[in-house]
Amino acid sequence: MAARQIVPDVYSVGVIDWDRAVFDELMELSDGTSYNAYVVRGSEKTALIDTVDPAFEETYISNLVRAELTSVDYIVVNHAEQDHSGSLPLALELFPHAKVVTTEKGRDLCCSLHHVLPERFMVVGDGDTLSLGNKTLTFMSTPWVHWPETMMTYLEEDKILFSCDLFGAHIASSALYAEDSSRFWMEARQYYAEIMQPFRSKVREYTGRVRSLGPAMIAPSHGPIHRTPSGILDAYEGWSSDEVKNLVLIPYVSMHGSTREMVDRLVDLLIERGIEVRPYDLGRVGTGAIAYDLVDAATIIIGAPTMLFGPHPKAAHLAFITNLLKPKAKWIGVIGSYGWGGKTVEDLTGMLCKVDAEMLEPVYIKGKSDEETNIAIARLAAEIYKRHQDHSLV
Ligand SMILES: Cc1cc2nc3c(=O)[nH]c(=O)nc-3n(C[C@H](O)[C@H](O)[C@H](O)COP(=O)(O)O)c2cc1C
Ligand SMILES: [Fe+2]
Ligand SMILES: [Fe+2]
Repeated sequence: MAARQIVPDVYSVGVIDWDRAVFDELMELSDGTSYNAYVVRGSEKTALIDTVDPAFEETYISNLVRAELTSVDYIVVNHAEQDHSGSLPLALELFPHAKVVTTEKGRDLCCSLHHVLPERFMVVGDGDTLSLGNKTLTFMSTPWVHWPETMMTYLEEDKILFSCDLFGAHIASSALYAEDSSRFWMEARQYYAEIMQPFRSKVREYTGRVRSLGPAMIAPSHGPIHRTPSGILDAYEGWSSDEVKNLVLIPYVSMHGSTREMVDRLVDLLIERGIEVRPYDLGRVGTGAIAYDLVDAATIIIGAPTMLFGPHPKAAHLAFITNLLKPKAKWIGVIGSYGWGGKTVEDLTGMLCKVDAEMLEPVYIKGKSDEETNIAIARLAAEIYKRHQDHSLV
């Protein structure tokens, strides 16, 4: 694809990955993705901002050729992950005098992941600037969005923030700029849910910094460029805030219907109390849809029968992922059924140790629901209602 001009002397030279179906061998992508990279041509020096996934390095180089780049002085590495730096070795071969501009941790990771020689680096820290003549780059150290070395680069004169993973979206689109469409917002939130959610407090801090910086544009490394940054900043502020919704997620699995019966009863009782509820059958629904709702659900109840003395593996998988994503839910619980014994509740509770939520009294029964189970489920519904009401959610 040809290089596209954003403003005079600033080009988008990344690639669109129309067919990518899975990211990190974990997240399902419904709409492909892109690996964005940029060129900033100053009156004296030229900088590349990030490279692309190594699977597309030839397309990337051909984009640079089409942008008529004859010399490159700096290659800024905002993030050492392979989807943005995997083409660095080839770019360094092509431009033997170019320096790699990155953080100290970025240098270490580029050396170990991409075998870049130590003498090729120019290490920068927060607030450092680099003059390209009539254009100036300022670096913002922003660790943990998404790795420990991540930084952002601000082009002062044009007020463009190259934010790398932060504010991105997995969208393959010919449109260079973000549209205010349901497709865009779905994908942007899914991306936040799966990639940024574990770093919520950092995201909140950096969103505030970017808000005060007041960029005219935010150009991330996945998905479209934000020409009206307030939209994505508002969304990130909301997603990363402590605010939760009057929503109960119930991811569950049931082999023979006993856990399912308990879920159905709980769902009915919550609906009766005016609480939004989303049961997800883990036999049919992937974790991506659940991650999307983890962004602001107040309560999570995992429904899991016992299998071979522990939680059914689909429930264990969900609990494991939930623990990694560290959602801001305030209450969490376990319900389910067993036949003769095991450690399902203890195992699931242990797997959720990083979720900073109050554990509700579990309802874990032998076999099929009876009157006692129904009373326990009703008690759980009442406990959830009370907590949602106390927090003015209902
Ligand atoms: C493959 C398999 C393994 C099981 N392993 C255990 C177990 O280790 N301990 C236990 O108490 N029950 C075990 N059970 C019994 C189930 O936990 C029990 O039937 C429960 O009621 C199933 O709930 P469900 O109808 O929601 O699937 C096992 C059942 C199956 C099908
Ligand atoms: Fe990343
Ligand atoms: Fe990325």
